[in-house]
Amino acid sequence: MAEVEPVKPTKMYAVKDLKQHTTEDDCWIAISGKVYDVTHFLDEHPGGFDIIVTNTGKDATEDFEEIGHSNAAKEMLAKYAIGDFDGGDVKKTNRASISAVKAKQANLQSSNPVLKLLQVLLPLLVILAAIFVPKYLL
Ligand code: HEM
Repeated sequence: MAEVEPVKPTKMYAVKDLKQHTTEDDCWIAISGKVYDVTHFLDEHPGGFDIIVTNTGKDATEDFEEIGHSNAAKEMLAKYAIGDFDGGDVKKTNRASISAVKAKQANLQSSNPVLKLLQVLLPLLVILAAIFVPKYLL
């Protein structure tokens, strides 16, 4: 009977591990649940090395996807994989804080009566100026 190959355990990395590899000389990046050591790819990256370095130390999936990388770009990733990303709820935390900030801004805007008044008055003033300035002042 053929022997079953033992499944090689994948290394798990967390955000704290990512945060130790955030420089041009030692650069890891987490995309779609995997961690990549892209130190030697930085100089080849068509989008520049700095954009990758600024996306280290966190889950970079969203930024990577937003650029609309080609399939060729996605296939290149495999070459640099070093393990899995145990990101916990980093993305959730980021999202939560972004929505908290947005909610706060919305709240500020809607509850501030001066801002509300300005929103109405400003366009009105511009229209009035456009009518009366040429008529009486020019
Ligand atoms: C480490 C994984 C990455 C790989 C293998 C990779 C690969 C590539 C490749 C092959 C291109 C050429 C265009 C294409 O084929 O899509 C590209 C362009 C680009 N990448 Fe990445 N990339 C990586 C990470 C990132 C990250 C994290 C960002 C940050 C958001 C980023 C931003 C860009 C930008 C701005 C361009 C230029 C797009 C343009 O000029 O139209 N890349 N990348």
